Amino acid sequence: MRVFLIAGARPNFMKIAPIYRESLKYNEVCCKIVHTGQHYDYEMSQAFFQDLELPEPDFFLNAGSGTHAVQTAKIMVAFEELCQDERPDLVIVVGDVNSTLACSVVAKKCLINVAHVEAGLRSFDLTMPEEINRIVTDSISDYFFVTEEGGVKNLVSEGRPKDRIHFVGNVMIDNLFHQARKLRKDDGRCFSTFRLKKEKRDYVFLTLHRPSNVDSKECFEEIADALNHIATEIPILFPVHPRTQKMMDQFNIKLSSNIFLLPPLGFKESLFLWKDSTVVMTDSGSLQEETTALGVPCVTLRQNTERPITIEIGTNILAGAKKESILKAYRNAMEKNRKNYSVPPKWDGRASERIWKIILNS
Ligand code: UD1
Repeated sequence: MRVFLIAGARPNFMKIAPIYRESLKYNEVCCKIVHTGQHYDYEMSQAFFQDLELPEPDFFLNAGSGTHAVQTAKIMVAFEELCQDERPDLVIVVGDVNSTLACSVVAKKCLINVAHVEAGLRSFDLTMPEEINRIVTDSISDYFFVTEEGGVKNLVSEGRPKDRIHFVGNVMIDNLFHQARKLRKDDGRCFSTFRLKKEKRDYVFLTLHRPSNVDSKECFEEIADALNHIATEIPILFPVHPRTQKMMDQFNIKLSSNIFLLPPLGFKESLFLWKDSTVVMTDSGSLQEETTALGVPCVTLRQNTERPITIEIGTNILAGAKKESILKAYRNAMEKNRKNYSVPPKWDGRASERIWKIILNS
């Protein structure tokens, strides 16, 4: 069985790593990694392949940045050519980035089966490009691998056949547990932030990159105002995404000297910092899940989440993007007791194993 495993942007790399590793256990599977090139900087791409023990991609499509249409179209053109040349039996796409949508549509039109890992998540917010990517991918996929029970309900209500929907757990958590185990044997001395972490002890770990938060000056300034306020009480460690850096420069955003700006970090170094932080503040989807799995309080700088389980039983609090609501959520997170959280069902590090068993038995 010849399988293409698609990755393009940073969060994809964490999801394909455990799926790829698990594929090596099956002689009948030949799994090839296709990197679309949506992310291309060393820190955004290659550093993750090294950290996550992934081999060099078998195919690199070199799509690069652009508007949504340009980026999606470039991936589609290159991936169509590859599918025509290589004719895989199955294309596995993960998550909700432009590469996910582009490759699923191309594969389906080439009459190749598509498996979507992380199917069924919905924010019900069509201003989010990722929501459009999720809906389109789920409208044509053959296998739906779901991370939380709400995803099953969403797919059923959209008319997807029940026998193709599989609640398998979360590959992001497979990767997290694998890496966290390895990090336990390592004091982190090799990381450039080792000293900073030691010095600060209590700190907030922040990530911020959603277009809805950083592409509007007014919105970014409002969030910066809240962060500057929090920084009067506690240091904030902030690895800055390239999109965010660009907008910070353009809008001349001023941040407190107690907010420590860092370059984008690899997976391990980022985990090394956030797992011991007092609170994580983020607008990332992945960190909402990962903090839930390790019981770290998380404040999500968004109005909604496609991952409701992280709020229902996890450590996540929705803060929106207004100063007052962010400060309120931060205070709530500070008061939370880390012991009172549960890890969602099937977030046990075995999702990839379930995925391959289902694929091979079908
Ligand atoms: C993309 C995903 C988002 C995901 C995020 C993780 C979509 C629609 N969005 O958003 O869901 O959470 O990745 O990072 O697919 N850039 C660089 N170097 C790079 C990559 C990007 O400098 O290696 C800069 C470019 O200026 C680019 C901008 O960042 O225009 C945005 O990159 P893009 O891939 O379009 O979207 P992200 O914001 O990264």
